[in-house]
Amino acid sequence: MAYENILVFREGAVGRVQLNRPQALNALNFRLMTELVEAFREMERDPGIGCLLLHGNEKAFAAGADIKEMAELGAIDMYTRDYIELWDEVARIKKPIVAAVSGYCLGGGLELAMICDIIVASETAKFGQPEINIGVLPGAGGTQRLTRAVGKSLAMEMVLTGRMLTAQEALAAGLVSRVVPVEVYLSEAQKLAGEIASKSPVALRLAKEAVLQAFEGSLSSGLAYERRLFAMAFASEDQKEGMRAFTEKRKPEWKGR
Ligand code: CAA
Repeated sequence: MAYENILVFREGAVGRVQLNRPQALNALNFRLMTELVEAFREMERDPGIGCLLLHGNEKAFAAGADIKEMAELGAIDMYTRDYIELWDEVARIKKPIVAAVSGYCLGGGLELAMICDIIVASETAKFGQPEINIGVLPGAGGTQRLTRAVGKSLAMEMVLTGRMLTAQEALAAGLVSRVVPVEVYLSEAQKLAGEIASKSPVALRLAKEAVLQAFEGSLSSGLAYERRLFAMAFASEDQKEGMRAFTEKRKPEWKGR
């Protein structure tokens, strides 16, 4: 597929995608989301890639789903068009995804960032679910993922008023893992993605699956799930190599199996 709305890069073991509709603050239209899913799936299939990185530009990660594209759609169009399902497709990616966020990260843009596994924010980042201001509600997982990320009271305030959080507020609420100056937000996220990509692909896949389980079920089922995945890690060569390398005081060489 020739991409019109995203730029795709390969940097060592990191696959990087830049959302690229700057004239529309990277509003996520159907075509852009389709391209993003396709690019991520290709990176998922590439055994040389260990971690994905997603970002926009300094002004906007993404200002939401494309309002102009949705404005005249009816309920059945919206339900059957498989548009929102494109966010679910991103959520099905098994490799870790780091989001580097600067500027506006709103609506479907925040929902996309929350599907990523780690958010690195620039000091200028603004996070919000402003759908209430256009007569709707978050529709790509925001009411669920935001509530789990920041708790009920703050999620309600954001969803019911549309108020945006500053990067520092987002850090305090646990929505992002770190806030860095805008000049270095992308390079910091690249470093983080590179570090993740250097780990065992098997262990990364199991670990992501286990942490996500914490989001999706009860504590007791999550703990049971984690226990099974932890035991499964001991079936991999990477577990043997990792633990032997530690004992032998050397760097491990990952096989990915
Ligand atoms: N959809 C389509 N176009 C958008 C857009 C969006 N979500 N956000 C911005 N744009 C466009 C603007 O229409 C404008 O285009 P034109 O130059 O052709 O008029 C261009 O991007 C620049 O935007 P502004 O002139 O509005 O820039 P600003 O700096 O004055 O304001 C802003 C920035 C506060 C982010 C404002 O653009 C805004 O409020 N955008 C909409 C935010 C929003 O409501 N997002 C939620 C969308 S619904 C959703 O996401 C549903 C879901 O859960 C799946």
